[in-house]
Amino acid sequence: MPMLGYGLFKVDPKESERCVRDALSVGYRMIDTAQFYANEEQVGKAVAESGIPREELFIITKVWMNHGDEKGAAASIEESLRRLKTDYADLILVHQPYGDYYGIYRALEKAYAQGKTRAIGLSNFYDARFADLVYHTDVKPAVDQLETNVFSQQNAMREQLAEIDARLMAWGPMGQGKYDFFTHPVLTAIGEKYGKTASQVGLRFLVQQGIPVIPKSTSITRMEENMKIFDFILSEADMEILRGLNIHDKGSRDYNDPAYAKKIVSQVF
Ligand SMILES: NC(=O)c1ccc[n+]([C@@H]2O[C@H](COP(=O)([O-])OP(=O)(O)OC[C@H]3O[C@@H](n4cnc5c(N)ncnc54)[C@H](OP(=O)(O)O)[C@@H]3O)[C@@H](O)[C@H]2O)c1
Repeated sequence: MPMLGYGLFKVDPKESERCVRDALSVGYRMIDTAQFYANEEQVGKAVAESGIPREELFIITKVWMNHGDEKGAAASIEESLRRLKTDYADLILVHQPYGDYYGIYRALEKAYAQGKTRAIGLSNFYDARFADLVYHTDVKPAVDQLETNVFSQQNAMREQLAEIDARLMAWGPMGQGKYDFFTHPVLTAIGEKYGKTASQVGLRFLVQQGIPVIPKSTSITRMEENMKIFDFILSEADMEILRGLNIHDKGSRDYNDPAYAKKIVSQVF
């Protein structure tokens, strides 16, 4: 799995094909989409027309909870692959810890056994739900994709993931711009020392700890900016300062909050 990918949450389907084309043209090779983002079709088209050999790409998608049971989830995986114009995904995730996620996971296990995906995993699974699902599965999740950035460092979940040798992947690696991420005084001041921007410092902080990042941007200039994170090393002193920015370790959303659960499960697309 590459350490850097391109994320497509909230990229307007009308813009998605151009964005993926731009991302591939500047060198991104991992693409993170989802059924819920409603842009798998555009990802598939841009990838197919890029001429880049399939084996050089790493394509991630996620299964939403609106397919009922395992059978419905299995059919949705076929649909995703059709839209993505590929015989296999590199990683498919259960998008949310709601609905019949055991059914979805069983469908993922079968897709994995049939070679329709090279790996399977979870997204937004925490604590007891993560532990319980892991306990009741045959194929352990390779990844848990969680909100991870300097303000939400996921130290507690890292320990849980390490127990089964699963990988943390960072969504919202720039905090979705919250807390003035792009002008944050600490990120900016550290960046000045290395000739880097706040986004590059925040992304580097994660990849330097072995956490893959999938920053989103609709601007080719910012896509390029977000890639330039492999030509400098943050000193241990600066890493320590950045560790001090952790505000809410487990992310800004509480997946155990009934109000949040209601909001997510009622989303239609
Ligand atoms: N599994 C999940 O539940 C889940 C949830 C959320 C996200 N994700 C995945 O993670 C990816 C990244 O997360 P995210 O999109 O939520 O947030 P993010 O990547 O942390 O931040 C994206 C925001 O930052 C702006 N931006 C990007 N680069 C910038 C730069 N260099 N300077 C200034 N502004 C910049 C973007 O605006 P512009 O586009 O205008 O540049 C956009 O508003 C998503 O696209 C998606 O693939 C997964």
